Formats: sequence, structure tokens, C-alpha cells
Amino acid sequence: MSGHGTPIPMTARRAGPLRGAAHVPGDKSISHRALILGALCVGETRITGLLEGEDVLATAEAMRAFGATVERLSEGDWRVQGVGVGGLAEPETVIDCGNSGTGVRLIMGLMATSPITATFTGDASLRSRPMARITDPIALFGAAAYGRAGGRLPMTIVGSADPVPVRYTTPMPSAQVKSAVLLAGLNAPGQTVVIEKEATRDHTERMLAGFGAEITVEHTAEGRTITLTGQPELAPQSIAVPRDPSSAAFPVCAALIVEGSDVLVPNIGLNPTRAGLFETLREMGADLAYENPREEGGEPVADLRARYSPAMQGIRVPAERAASMIDEYPVLSVVAAFATGKTEMVGVKELRVKESDRIDAMARGLEGNGVTIEEGPDFFTVHGMGPGGMPGGGTAAARLDHRIAMSFLVAGLAAQKPVSVDDAGPIATSFPGFEPLMAALGARIDRTNR
Ligand code: S3P
Repeated sequence: MSGHGTPIPMTARRAGPLRGAAHVPGDKSISHRALILGALCVGETRITGLLEGEDVLATAEAMRAFGATVERLSEGDWRVQGVGVGGLAEPETVIDCGNSGTGVRLIMGLMATSPITATFTGDASLRSRPMARITDPIALFGAAAYGRAGGRLPMTIVGSADPVPVRYTTPMPSAQVKSAVLLAGLNAPGQTVVIEKEATRDHTERMLAGFGAEITVEHTAEGRTITLTGQPELAPQSIAVPRDPSSAAFPVCAALIVEGSDVLVPNIGLNPTRAGLFETLREMGADLAYENPREEGGEPVADLRARYSPAMQGIRVPAERAASMIDEYPVLSVVAAFATGKTEMVGVKELRVKESDRIDAMARGLEGNGVTIEEGPDFFTVHGMGPGGMPGGGTAAARLDHRIAMSFLVAGLAAQKPVSVDDAGPIATSFPGFEPLMAALGARIDRTNR
């Protein structure tokens, strides 16, 4: 799993324009969910375009441990023979979710309403992340959790033999928490209700409906209210995973800040619960077009074309947009450093409990490359230095966080001096092929620390 190997330092240098097409990998959120729901059907689910990053491979392995047959037929093409809702087997050994918060949290929810016990662990990043946000709601279903101090992994979950349905309002905007409760609700009798005050990515709801579950979404005074009828029989599906907007963010943002660039990023899922970054960039004045907009598999999809955008201005990113771009603040803060004026990011305290404390990781890394920032528990402000303005010359600590590593490598493509990251190994969790993809566009990124 990531973070257990020898560090891979990398350095990015300013070079010529980035040009060409960037075919980014499949969506990470959808890939996890496709494997998990496939494991709950009796019969064969086929998945194409699956992200073969370490996070998703850990979920595939976990589904095998719970009794499903999960096979890779060819690149991105996978087959899952599931066990049926209520049919999970008890794993014989510890489930290692690597770096993946989504994997571990969804699977803890999934098993919480089955009469089995499982122990979960992960890498140093995952072992430091809070799990009470999952163990609190699954306790309401009747599950018990025994973990380290502060609700950390390793942790053992004893699933409920006699689960009851739950009505739960998520205390923070989190698709992982919402999804864990819905997956737990699948094996509880009656109706499980999840209410979220702010909409978060809705892939679980869409996919549950696609697999034949009875699920409704209403907007009430309390918020977005999702009602799931438990113990359905899920029907196997064919799922074509769209390409990941969170991965598309890196070549898109690189093109906006590298002089003369013109990059096409085809087939990107533009589900409104995921597209906040692109809206923000356009507000900043980015030359970013949605070409060939269409619907695929019930999701809006387009080809993104990003061109060098020296006229970008800093803005205040509204807090209401945070959930729809929560994974994109690191790379947005790099773009902000090359814009004119300041960019204020507010309502972003969830960034402190991601794969790393992303506010701190970006703040220290940007400062080390000559950028002025301000930060607080729930906000982050970057003072833009204009096109080509970032001095660079620093080494950022990636902190086992793929998006921190990729963000600083993007910065180095436009900064005055090279920018290094101490360990780019975690990029393999979500974006295998990042290095050759960027190289094919003309980026200069090499495996040195300068
Ligand atoms: C994800 C939800 C988000 C996001 C993560 C993927 C998901 O986490 O940051 O990368 O697939 O449900 P939170 O639920 O903690 O916001």
C-alpha cells in the first residue's frame, strides 16, 4: 500500500507550453461504489473504465475478503460476482484500506448491519484520520466499534445481528458519512433516512437507484432528505465509469498557468456535486470551455478545453460551493498563486481532516515557494503573484497526500525556479499514469529532488 515504500522525490520545472489531449483515469468515488454495490448483487456486474489506483484496488481486495469474486479481465474492465444484500462473509484477516478514507468508511458502513466482525487498518495517513463520524451513526444501527484513542484505526467493527433502521442527520458535509449510513441501511429492515444540510456528491444515491434499490431524495426544511428501503434485492449492472473531474483538475490547472498552453481533457463527468472547481476557475477568468456537452449513463459529461489564462483574478469562493470542490482546493490554491489579487477560500475546515491537513500542507508548501498566505481553522487565503510570479525553489512535503504532491508539481511547471515534492509515491492512489500523461503534454517533471 502507498506510503510504505521508499519515498519518490520529484521536481517540476518551467518549460514550453502544454499541448495535446489528456486522458485522465476513471472516477475514484464511482469506482469504489461500483465494486461495493457489485459485491452486494447475486450475479455478474461488469465495470469498464474502473480506476486502477491503489485506493480502489484496496477496495477490490476488501470485497474479496467479504466473499465476493472480483476479477480483472483487462485494463479497466472488471467483473464482480456478488454475495447478495445480507450475504457478506466474515473476513479471515485484517482489511488494509491503504490510504483510502472513502474505502474504509464505506466498507465499515456496509458491514455494520451484518452479524460479522472485521478489523480495519491503513497507512500512516489513514490511521491518523477520524472515524467517529462513522462509528457514531453505525452504533445507532446496533454495531459496536473498538478502535484506538480518538476513534482511530486500527479498529474492529462488530456488526449488528439484529439491525434497526436509522434516521440520521450528517453533522458535517460528507459524502462518505452519508454513503456509509445508506450502505448500512441496505441490510436493515424498514426505511433508513439520511439528511444532509448541504448537498454532497450523490454517486451513492444514483448508483443505488441504478441497481434497483428503492431510494428517494426530497428537499425539505431540514435539508436534502434521502430515504432508502432496506433489504432490497439488487440487480447486477453494467457500469461505465466516467473520467474523474478531480484528476482532470491537474492538467486543466497546469494549462491555465503555463504560458501558451492549450489542453483538451475529454469525457469528464460534470455532475454538479463535483464541478465546483471549474465554475470557480471560470469566475476567476480562466479560458476553460465545456466542449461537446452530453449525457452519459445518467451523468452530464463534456470535454474540457483549458488554455493559458494570464488574466485570472482572485475571488472569494463561496462556502456553499465547498462540498462540490472539496478535493480541488489544493490545486486551486496553486492557480490562485498565479492569479492577480487574493483568493479567499472559506468554509473549508473539512480540509484539515483529509489525507493530510490540506490547509497546513498547502500553506507551508506555498510559503516555502515564496507565496504569502493567511489561514485559520476554517479559511485559507492565497495572495496571487500574477502570471509567472511564483518564485518557486522550495521542496514541499507531500504528507502521504496524492493531491498535495500533484498540486506542487503543477506549481513547478510555471514557477520561476523548480518546485520539488519530497514523495510523489502517493499519486498512485488516485492517478496512476500522472507522470507519462503530463510528460506527453510537454511538462518537465522528473524523479529528482533538484
Ligand atoms: C468522497 C468524499 C469526500 C472526498 C473524498 C471522496 C467520496 O470526502 O474528499 O475524496 O467518494 O465519498 P468526505 O466525505 O470526507 O467529504
